[in-house]
Order: sequence, then C-alpha cells, then structure tokens
Amino acid sequence: MTLRNYKNRQWLLATRPQGMVTKDNFQWLETEVETPKENEFLVKNLYLSFDPAQRGWMEDRESYVPPVGIGEVMRAGSIAQVVESNNPDFKAGDIVQGTFGWQDFAISNGKGIMNATHVPADIPITAPLSVFGITGLTAYFGLLDIGKPKEGNTVLISGAAGATGSIVGQIAKLKGCRVIGTAGGAKKCRWLTEKANFDVAIDHKTADLNSTLQEICPEGIDVIFDNVGGEFLNTALSRINQNARIVICGAISGYNEKVPPPGPSNYTALIIQRAKMEGFIVLDYVNQFNDAVKELRSWVKEGKIVYQEDIAEGLENAPETLLRLYSGENTGKQLLKVADPD
Ligand SMILES: NC(=O)c1ccc[n+]([C@@H]2O[C@H](COP(=O)([O-])OP(=O)(O)OC[C@H]3O[C@@H](n4cnc5c(N)ncnc54)[C@H](OP(=O)(O)O)[C@@H]3O)[C@@H](O)[C@H]2O)c1
Repeated sequence: MTLRNYKNRQWLLATRPQGMVTKDNFQWLETEVETPKENEFLVKNLYLSFDPAQRGWMEDRESYVPPVGIGEVMRAGSIAQVVESNNPDFKAGDIVQGTFGWQDFAISNGKGIMNATHVPADIPITAPLSVFGITGLTAYFGLLDIGKPKEGNTVLISGAAGATGSIVGQIAKLKGCRVIGTAGGAKKCRWLTEKANFDVAIDHKTADLNSTLQEICPEGIDVIFDNVGGEFLNTALSRINQNARIVICGAISGYNEKVPPPGPSNYTALIIQRAKMEGFIVLDYVNQFNDAVKELRSWVKEGKIVYQEDIAEGLENAPETLLRLYSGENTGKQLLKVADPD
C-alpha cells in the first residue's frame, strides 16, 4: 500500500456536549499520514467500536479514564491492520486491536493507551469488539462476580437486547436461572425470546414495568443487572427478594441529561431485603480477560451463546453512529466499518 496518495481523515472533539451529544460536538479534519519512528508502527482502522461510555469521555471530568481533550481525536476502540512497522512485535499485514480512535490511520508504539494486541486468526475479525471484547467481558464479570447467580434465581436485565445485556441473559440461562429482559420494541423482544433463550422479554416502550413484573415474577427478583438506571432501576428495586444482588453496570438513560437524574427513591428496599447494590468497571478484571474469553469462545462455538453486531459504514458517519446507542436504533453491538483489510 502506498500511503503518499492518502490523507488521514479524523474526527476531533470540538466542544463538550451540553445535554444530548450532537454532530456539532465533533470537527472533521484531513491531515497527512504520519510516518512511524523507531519502535512505532502505523495502523489502518478497519472497524470502530461504539460504546455508551464515550459520552462520558467527552465531558471535562476525571473518571476511570481521563477525558478526551478538545482538539484531540475522538477516542474509540478498534480493529486495525498494521501497514508499516519499525516494531519487531508487529509486522505489516497483522490484524490488531487497540484504542486507535475516530480516524483512518494511527501511530502506535505498542504501549499504554496506544497499545495493541493481535487478533486471533480463528475468530471473526469483529468479535474482539463485541462478544469477546469489552461488552462480552462486562457481561461475564458483572453477572458472575457481582451478580453471583444461583440455579433457580430470577434475573432481570435492562438494555437486554444490547451488546452487554444480551450476553448477560444467556450466561444467566447457562447458570440455570429464569431470565427476564427489558428492551425497546417488539423486534428486539422477539429476538430475545426466540434466539437468545430469554424466558420473557418486556418492551419498555409499551409495557408498564411495575404491573408486568408483578404478573410475570410474583416470586420476586434475585439479581438485577442494570444498564439503564432511572425509572427502570427504581421500579425493579420494589420487586427484589431477600439478599438480592443489584449489579450497576451502566445508567444510559441519564448519560445525556444536563442535570443528573435523582437516585432511586425505592433504595430502602435494600434495607428491608438485606440486598446489595454494587457497581463495577470491567477493566479491573483485565488479568482474568484471557480465561473469560476462552470460556466465552467455547460457549459461542457450542451454540450456547448467540450475538448480534450492527455494522454501520463510513468514517464520515461516526457521530451519527454514536447517536444510535442513545436512541436505541442499534441491535446488538454497534460497530462502524472504516475500511477493508488489504
Ligand atoms: N461497567 C462497565 O465496565 C461497563 C462496560 C461496558 C458497558 N457498560 C454499560 O453497559 C450498558 C450497555 O452498553 P452496551 O455497549 O452494551 O450498549 P447497548 O446496550 O448495545 O446499546 C445501548 C442501548 O441502551 C438502550 N437505551 C438507550 N437510551 C435509553 C434510555 N434513555 N432508556 C432506556 N434504554 C435506553 C437502547 O436499547 P433499547 O432500544 O432496548 O432501549 C440501546 O440500544 C451501558 O450503560 C454502558 O455504559 C458498562
């Protein structure tokens, strides 16, 4: 590949969002493709990962990762191909995974935030961003380590048709639980019960959650795996059993609010039911990722776990693709294809 004829197209963070993220928060730039120095290598992005947390990275506040600076390339995980290398561990043609951002090309030194890992040749090229990536691992550790499901438990999952929620429900089924999921729309709900082995799916756009839960789980809920927060969490808390575990994975319903939504008034159910509500960050389990991926791979191979990827196309569409997560347009893991491998 001759890079002389190419530009590096980039999306930079231009302004910090006030309320809902918009395309105007980003700026399109075309620059020269950089040349790798000693120990560096140049990659070409093939697929970008879209994650609800990206909205948080755009804010000017310290979190579990530093914010993206104004004028910096928007941060994102990706699958990429090495095109030039001065690093003995990476050669031209290698397919790698890293945090290479919303751009065509990136320089990596194989360390820190610009580190890269090789993608195994025997899995689909996008799977390290979906079922064997952060969302699959979030499902795995959040459910098994924080939710601690036991055979016969009732597990309730919000955002159940999403990248994380859909894997949570299927792992809970493998552990012998009764699994209920909430999702937006009849199509997503049908996929949950017909393909993903959920016992019940509740369409949060049309159903009244409180009365539906009373009807379908009169015996109460043992594990809540919450991706959404807000009204969902408040209502679900009113149905918990003694010693229930409430896994706070995310709270996407509030990510684009100017003022953080109030906490759940039903939290006193935790006292009465001696229950535990606990948050987690999947990156804390990084030393156990390899073993978890091994188990997830065997479940997928045996057909015990299915997954969906929603692949948009074209780097120019990155801002709109991010917005799909907050409007619920995505079905399963949201990705964006930037280029084909050579
Ligand atoms: N703790 C961690 O380490 C960690 C790691 C990764 C992800 N997460 C969290 O996990 C959650 C799911 O992430 P994901 O990457 O798997 O995304 P996802 O579930 O594939 O996509 C987001 C989904 O959220 C739902 N949603 C969006 N806005 C909503 C609203 N206002 N009210 C109710 N539902 C809404 C939509 O589903 P419907 O159409 O079904 O409503 C949408 O499809 C997020 O909260 C994310 O922040 C946490």
